[in-house]
Amino acid sequence: MTAKIISGTETARQIREELKQEIASLKEKHNLVPGLATVLVGADPASQVYVGAKEKTSKELGIYSERYDIPAETTQAELLARIDRLNKDPKIHGILVQLPLPKHIKETDILYAIDPKKDVDGFHPVNVGKLMIGEADYLPCTPHGIQQLLIRSGIEIDGAEVVILGRSNIVGKPIANILLQKKEGANATVTVCHTGTRDIKFHTRRADILIVAAGRPKAVTADMVKEGVVVIDVGVNRIGKTPEGKSILVGDVDFEAVKEKAKAITPVPGGVGPMTITMLMLNTVKAAKIAAGLI
Ligand code: GUN
Repeated sequence: MTAKIISGTETARQIREELKQEIASLKEKHNLVPGLATVLVGADPASQVYVGAKEKTSKELGIYSERYDIPAETTQAELLARIDRLNKDPKIHGILVQLPLPKHIKETDILYAIDPKKDVDGFHPVNVGKLMIGEADYLPCTPHGIQQLLIRSGIEIDGAEVVILGRSNIVGKPIANILLQKKEGANATVTVCHTGTRDIKFHTRRADILIVAAGRPKAVTADMVKEGVVVIDVGVNRIGKTPEGKSILVGDVDFEAVKEKAKAITPVPGGVGPMTITMLMLNTVKAAKIAAGLI
């Protein structure tokens, strides 16, 4: 079997088209323009690329955007003051503070300071708690993107054995929670593997859907999966540069070997990545509608 390639680029394009129309209609019918503020502390090159892409996509869809580039030496108090101003600004419906933050800033203090109604990343404990009980307003962007990719690719999630590699707060834990809910596009049996798991292969070989956010290239090889598995690769590893100086990206899965056994697989790049940004746009539109009392 050679796998169908699940294109995040194409699915993201479809969702963005839907959002563009919705944003135009919100402007026309309600004079409402969703607003997103992105905050980047320091100059990490990967974070600069991500924030740049978020800003660019906002503009393309008709979302009002403000970007704050703050020096790495900023104090926690200064950053909290910026968040406080954004919390109070009625033009801004969503606030995104790019992670990771410099070591001298306590990440949880910053995430807790964002108004939960403007927390379009879904990282505030109020929103994490709401996700646990199936009441979330904002699903975290990467996990939500994964769920949408599966649904829109016609993959059956209900009753599936889903195995997740990685237990981060950004991907592993929230995707486990999302797919566990007794809801449409969920209702799976979920196993989360991590660095303390004794026999990873025992679990991965049972997976109907394998979601990999392990953080290293070739964490999943062909011998670790069963024939007909659906593989979602969340990894982004820079393994070198092309002669032209562009980063060479690979995921966490040995793509060439695993695609020969899988039913469907996401590529890197062009898989989960474009979906993450698109779900941020979706959450920003939702935040604007909530703020305006439309939902
Ligand atoms: N860093 C890596 N992924 C993310 C994300 O989804 N949101 C934010 N804010 N920072 C990140």
